[in-house]
Amino acid sequence: MHNTRPIGIFDSGIGGLTVFRSIAGQLPGHDLLYLGDNSRAPYGNRSFNTIHQYTWECVQWLLAQGCPLVILACNTASAKALRTIQQKDLPVTHPDRRVLGVIRPTAEVIGEYTHTGNIGVLGTQGTVASGSYLLEIKKFFPEISVHQQACPLWVPLIESGEYDKPGADHYVKLYLDELLQRSDQIDTILLACTHYPLLQHKIEAHLPEGVKVVAQGDIVAKSLTDYLQRHPEIDQQITRQGTRRFCTTTDDTTDLDQHASMFISEEVEFEFIGQM
Ligand code: DGL
Repeated sequence: MHNTRPIGIFDSGIGGLTVFRSIAGQLPGHDLLYLGDNSRAPYGNRSFNTIHQYTWECVQWLLAQGCPLVILACNTASAKALRTIQQKDLPVTHPDRRVLGVIRPTAEVIGEYTHTGNIGVLGTQGTVASGSYLLEIKKFFPEISVHQQACPLWVPLIESGEYDKPGADHYVKLYLDELLQRSDQIDTILLACTHYPLLQHKIEAHLPEGVKVVAQGDIVAKSLTDYLQRHPEIDQQITRQGTRRFCTTTDDTTDLDQHASMFISEEVEFEFIGQM
């Protein structure tokens, strides 16, 4: 039915659409297929094994749709499942396909945004506990101090559609205050969860002047564009009819369509693919 070989973009829920939007902007001709595992989101507080199992199931579904390349547009999955998928799973089942994450491309450039050498990283419990950003940023910017803060209530707020309501401000302030207490030198805050750009206006409103907020979408999209230029053998496999397809593991797609259409500037209609 779908005669395409698209780039697969995976997230636990709707947050990955912030990455999808940037990729669609930079690669308008490439076919794109989004999968959100909404019925099992949030992933943030789950164990390593569960996050790996869920992510690999979703990646396999995307590969079965013909994707030559899958982007884990989810920091939690990138932190906890990417390495096992790249090193153990994929070489056995699909050695000719590629799965890439969002942490490394972000770590490669984030140091360029700070003047004080102090970065705040906001992420899920899983991403923060993995220490992946501490390790990766150190590799590229050893002189920079990274201050992490987990924000476990933000993804549930976003997945439930409460992110633009006044009640969300309380929870935004709660975690920002905790982060800023760790250092008064932080001048750059990385949204290390693809859901958080939906709270970006509220986050910016609670920050002192001069602190800038960096979302990952454009960074990841640029890095992907560079990757495809360096890997024509992968790029040439991806079909280019400019199609966009949005899939989910929840049957409750009406709410999803509405929320997605609010922050991605096109009409979005999710297809329910069944539960994993
Ligand atoms: N959006 C995902 C991330 O970038 C995780 C959200 C969740 O499922 O907890 O980390």
